[in-house]
Amino acid sequence: MSLNNKLAVVTGGSRGIGAAIALELAKRGADVLVTYTSNQSKAESVKDQITALGRRSAAIRADQSTIDVGKVVLKGLQESFGVGAERKLDILVINAGISSRTPTLDFELEKFTSFMNTNVRGPMLLVRDLAPFLSSTGRILANTSIVARHPAPDQDAYTASKAALEALVRQWAYTLPDHYKGVTANSFAPGPVVTDMMKGYEALFDKVKEDTPVDRRLGEVGDIADVVAWMAGEESRWITGQSIQLNGGRLML
Ligand SMILES: NC(=O)c1ccc[n+]([C@@H]2O[C@H](COP(=O)([O-])OP(=O)(O)OC[C@H]3O[C@@H](n4cnc5c(N)ncnc54)[C@H](OP(=O)(O)O)[C@@H]3O)[C@@H](O)[C@H]2O)c1
Repeated sequence: MSLNNKLAVVTGGSRGIGAAIALELAKRGADVLVTYTSNQSKAESVKDQITALGRRSAAIRADQSTIDVGKVVLKGLQESFGVGAERKLDILVINAGISSRTPTLDFELEKFTSFMNTNVRGPMLLVRDLAPFLSSTGRILANTSIVARHPAPDQDAYTASKAALEALVRQWAYTLPDHYKGVTANSFAPGPVVTDMMKGYEALFDKVKEDTPVDRRLGEVGDIADVVAWMAGEESRWITGQSIQLNGGRLML
């Protein structure tokens, strides 16, 4: 298996795209720690499915909007997987994120701040605290969105946060290898994918399908997980600082 005995973290692994990524990494041989913020039972279910595949797993509450998120995840890795001098972290998938309508003309400071805290500050803190524990084939993979490069109705603060995250990933790709040799950092940018996050946006689906040359459909979580799992392995070693567009051709760069 391509990820045999690798150790991975997937933030927001309790549902949606993150759950699919966590399971795909485990199917390819990785042990996986998943984080969640409120859905403990769903996170535990993902953990149980990973364990049933014969891999080790843990599910911990680690709110990505908080200042101590990196330290909480590191503690979980140390307690459940013995991360330290001997065992390193191979794969850090920063997937958790929040989205809702945030048009500039209805600017709300509280919403803007919570987007930035969860989608930008949290990822920075995770990398600050976990990078020293990455292995020499360490992979950082951050879930941005098509909106980082392509406008979407009323998604202003969300778009700003995802574009900032994409830029941060390039910074990590550029600077981290000076400290941690072999580490790569890339973002992956899904187009619309059928998950809880897309509830309430059904009116847009027909247009999305029309604009998507491959299959004329929305994305499914497996479309994303398959690519991320490949990016997590050693064969992606020469790809860094990139934003991998996963949208069935809706946006071609
Ligand atoms: N769905 C799409 O069309 C789409 C497209 C492009 C990019 N994305 C990105 O993909 C990522 C996952 O989205 P999804 O569609 O899978 O959403 P989802 O089904 O709503 O799942 C969100 C996941 O993130 C977790 N989460 C939310 N806030 C968190 C926080 N503060 N701390 C820790 N975990 C948190 C949730 O945990 P709980 O279960 O505990 O709430 C859940 O596991 C997001 O970054 C999103 O921006 C989604």
